[in-house]
Amino acid sequence: DTSEEKQMKEAYELLQKFYHHLLVNTTEGQHALEYLIGRGFSKSSIEKFQIGYSLPSWDFTVKWLNKRGFQLPLLEKAGLIIQRENDDTYFDRFRNRIMFPIQNSKGETIAFAGRAIAKEDQPKYLNSPETILFNKSNILYNYYRAKGFIKKQQQAILFEGFADVISADSAEIFNGIATMGTSLTEQHVQLIRRMTDAVTICYDSDFAGIEAAYRAGKMLTEQNCNIRIARMPEGLDPDDYIKKYGAEKFRKDVIGASLTFMSFKMEYFRLGKNLQNEGEKLQYIEKIIEEITNLDRAVERDHYLRQLADEFSISLDALKQQQKQMFYATK
Ligand code: CTP
Ligand code: MN
Ligand code: MN
Ligand code: MN
Ligand code: MN
Repeated sequence: DTSEEKQMKEAYELLQKFYHHLLVNTTEGQHALEYLIGRGFSKSSIEKFQIGYSLPSWDFTVKWLNKRGFQLPLLEKAGLIIQRENDDTYFDRFRNRIMFPIQNSKGETIAFAGRAIAKEDQPKYLNSPETILFNKSNILYNYYRAKGFIKKQQQAILFEGFADVISADSAEIFNGIATMGTSLTEQHVQLIRRMTDAVTICYDSDFAGIEAAYRAGKMLTEQNCNIRIARMPEGLDPDDYIKKYGAEKFRKDVIGASLTFMSFKMEYFRLGKNLQNEGEKLQYIEKIIEEITNLDRAVERDHYLRQLADEFSISLDALKQQQKQMFYATK
């Protein structure tokens, strides 16, 4: 580390401690704590993930850290404070938010995500900007805690966000990591690949989540990962599900009942299609034949082709003919 990096990490570390103190021990943080408890966060999760609270002040952080010897330009570079335009004064980036510290793979805090408490406060999550310490595209939330478990269990569970990872942890699922809302990158995949090639994608069950799961699944498959996709009732995310149905049901009916990527695709490609319509049905069948043809293993290709035949009451022979025409025909 350069001395600048060292100082930035120190500032993050100090603030993390103070934000946590504000949340758990002070009247200023009481409404934030009540919000978290009301959402079902346990005291032990709040401790383990060192969740905190930032005051509704414009200059608390500026003054508090400056008093401790941190220069303002350094704090600005760390993304903790922002310089006013046409002015040489600074204000706090994080105000009146629930603070989730984000660690690098060594466990050092290098960024924060601040969640708004009131619905009308936008954005819902405000993150540290890109800095010399923090780049969203190569950091996975909870990676440093989860990596040992991922290696031992030979499986990673990939979530969208903070609350999902923390809820899963309280359900004794310790191999959970999250992309923090960005799409999965090659660098994220490399981080996972160091530990395992088996990934269960457990994204939100809304349109955005399903789309993102498809893209992440494609990317991981291309990097030779063996993936499964977990599904939940429409509109829920893993955190919602665990709080509504409990840990055991989540492990059994969501993680345990996850689909292979091919089975997921058989559902995914019919979204928004009307399979009563002959043309759309044929389009769908051709798309699925294409996907099946691209599978590596002959037994898999056979399995899904039979499934497709069964579902649409088409003979296996006819599907194989179609497949030949589409892919192996010599003109
Ligand atoms: N996210 C973000 N900025 C936003 C919204 C989302 O960085 N304005 C990231 C966060 O990491 C968030 C993840 O994307 O955890 C998933 O977004 P979403 O599903 O909308 O949030 P939840 O994690 O479900 O958050 P909560 O349960 O607190 O509403
Ligand atoms: Mn504590
Ligand atoms: Mn989401
Ligand atoms: Mn969500
Ligand atoms: Mn959520």
